[in-house]
Amino acid sequence: MQLVFATHNENKFKEVKALLPHHIELLSLNDIGCEEDIPETAETIEGNAAIKADYITSYYNYACFADDTGLEVPVLNNEPGVLSARYAGEGKNDRANMEKLLRNLEGKTQRDARFKTAIALSMNGKEVMFLGICTGTITERSRGLGGFGYDPIFQPDGYSETFAEMDLATKNEIGHRGRAIRQLIEYLKE
Ligand code: IMP
Repeated sequence: MQLVFATHNENKFKEVKALLPHHIELLSLNDIGCEEDIPETAETIEGNAAIKADYITSYYNYACFADDTGLEVPVLNNEPGVLSARYAGEGKNDRANMEKLLRNLEGKTQRDARFKTAIALSMNGKEVMFLGICTGTITERSRGLGGFGYDPIFQPDGYSETFAEMDLATKNEIGHRGRAIRQLIEYLKE
């Protein structure tokens, strides 16, 4: 069975491909000749994942799944949310994004946050959504050199390290993306 993963990120593609059951032939956007940037115009993380999966199914006629991730901070009305990648501007600069978030939380004691990954699967005429959530807090300052994005300022509940101070295996086990991907894999195995 052929299935498209709608991402231009090679690392994500390889990571997920290695985890899927063997009867699934995972195709990338390159494999199907899709070079365009798929619009991400929804106001929610789930909505953006759904737009991308539907786009490939409608225009390329393949079964497809797509992911979208964001960091939600309740005291900031769930910002940065869908804007996580470009919170501080279109440059998609991780450091500037973190600095903006720390500034907006200055003096606030309520620093709860959650990462959310939505994976939308469009297959056999229907759509299924998988959600992976990891709750934690935003630290006062950045700690650790690993990971990417907001990892140095996100400390998951139950741990004293930030994501950027953890090894990747632990992050994958407790993290938002790992949780969502494992649900997708279980569903595809059935
Ligand atoms: P994407 O949907 O996976 O491209 O994620 C959108 C944005 O959310 C990224 O550009 C990062 O800023 C942030 N993000 C996503 N996943 C993570 C993560 O695991 N750690 C830290 N930041 C992340």
